[in-house]
Amino acid sequence: MSDLYRFGVSLEKQLIEAFDRHINAQHYKTRSEAIRDLIREELVRKQWIEGGTVAGAIVMTYDHHKRELVNLLLDIQHDYQETIISTQHVHLDHHHCLEILAVKGKAADVEKLATTLKVQVGVKHLNLSITSSNE
Ligand code: NI
Repeated sequence: MSDLYRFGVSLEKQLIEAFDRHINAQHYKTRSEAIRDLIREELVRKQWIEGGTVAGAIVMTYDHHKRELVNLLLDIQHDYQETIISTQHVHLDHHHCLEILAVKGKAADVEKLATTLKVQVGVKHLNLSITSSNE
């Protein structure tokens, strides 16, 4: 681990009690780890807003019986070959496929890819999860 820096934080009693309940429910072992995660999350959000480079995953389900949908989704993915690092396809049941796309690139490109896939008829659900390799 990199050098640790310690600092004190003053909080209202009510606020820290609510925070402790929240992080206990999430099974954090220490406040420090919970605060570290909050800070990282905020910095990733900032990168996202400022249009920096982000990494993440697009998780989507779709009905592969919809006419032309599979070809359309593949065409879109080929248009974003520089953004998509890898893909995983799972045949969920007779009708549905689950696809996980690992992505890395400019926030704007990642968002455009996710939106373009999401609006296609037959795509049932799509979630974009963003992270960063920084900090
Ligand atoms: Ni499938």
